[in-house]
Amino acid sequence: MADVRRAAASPPAVHVLDVDDLGPTGMAEVLALAERDPATLAPTLAGRGVALVFEKPSNRTRNSSELAVVALGGHPVYIQGHEVGIDTRETAADVARTLACYHAVLCVRVLDHRSLERMAAALDRAGVAVPVVNLLSDRAHPCQALADLLTLRQCFGADGLAGRSLAYVGDANNVWRSLALAASMAGMATRVASPPGYGPSGEDVALVRSFGGELLVTTDPAEAAAGADALYTDVWTSMGQEDEAELRRAAFAGYAVDEELLGRAAPDAVVLHCLPAHRGEEISAAVVDGPRSVVWRQAANRLHAMRGLLAWLTGGGRP
Ligand code: CP
Ligand code: NVA
Repeated sequence: MADVRRAAASPPAVHVLDVDDLGPTGMAEVLALAERDPATLAPTLAGRGVALVFEKPSNRTRNSSELAVVALGGHPVYIQGHEVGIDTRETAADVARTLACYHAVLCVRVLDHRSLERMAAALDRAGVAVPVVNLLSDRAHPCQALADLLTLRQCFGADGLAGRSLAYVGDANNVWRSLALAASMAGMATRVASPPGYGPSGEDVALVRSFGGELLVTTDPAEAAAGADALYTDVWTSMGQEDEAELRRAAFAGYAVDEELLGRAAPDAVVLHCLPAHRGEEISAAVVDGPRSVVWRQAANRLHAMRGLLAWLTGGGRP
């Protein structure tokens, strides 16, 4: 009974549905933790579980999350979406309430971002201080953005991001949104070039700019890439959009990150891609496999970023 009373009195958890939920200070703390020697982090998950629910496939996110939990002494439980059936077997709220009975953190990859919002709201309403972390939704991919910022800090220095420019060429999708927010929160200037109809919403543009970072929106990849310190792209067809693949291939023709576009960027520009990549579509093989590509560093940083985020969320590792 004592445990029940304590849980009901807990302050609400910080849910990370997108990277701006951390705020600039929280993000900087997470990145600092991610850069720490793991041996110096407190085992804040010792004896505790972390639920990893996936409604869509994953390679990087699943593996990095499982190992990040283990690094903090915890026990990851991988759950495929159909097993818990969010809003099919039971409501998103009931899935969250149930998982929170066993786990210290709920990490969830969803088809519909609103499922995450409803899970977080249900826990807050019930006074259950268990954070919900977005492992990718149709709207956002904050864990990827944290790894991307870590990668950019490795390339340009932890204090070297402010004033640098990051050009994203392609679909202004979940990855773009979180990346642009994180980069803006770190003081970078961002540019996004997308075909008409695939650019960012006015609301997202305003949100990115609200953190102070410049954001150039264009339909011209050459304008976005000109002199940029970093070039980023992602798939033209995200998970769940497979029916639109043909239409999108046509719409995005001319938006590939290839050697010609890279030639317009700064001489020492780096190239990022969250992966999985489609060589010959959004990025050429020569670029993704070339000397300016940091995609494998990004992939490796998924683990460090996730370990930093989980340490931050569970308290003991805060600097
Ligand atoms: N970048 C990324 O999230 O990869 P996965 O879909 O393989 O997890
Ligand atoms: N935008 C892509 C990212 C995959 C990691 C998708 O949502 O499928």
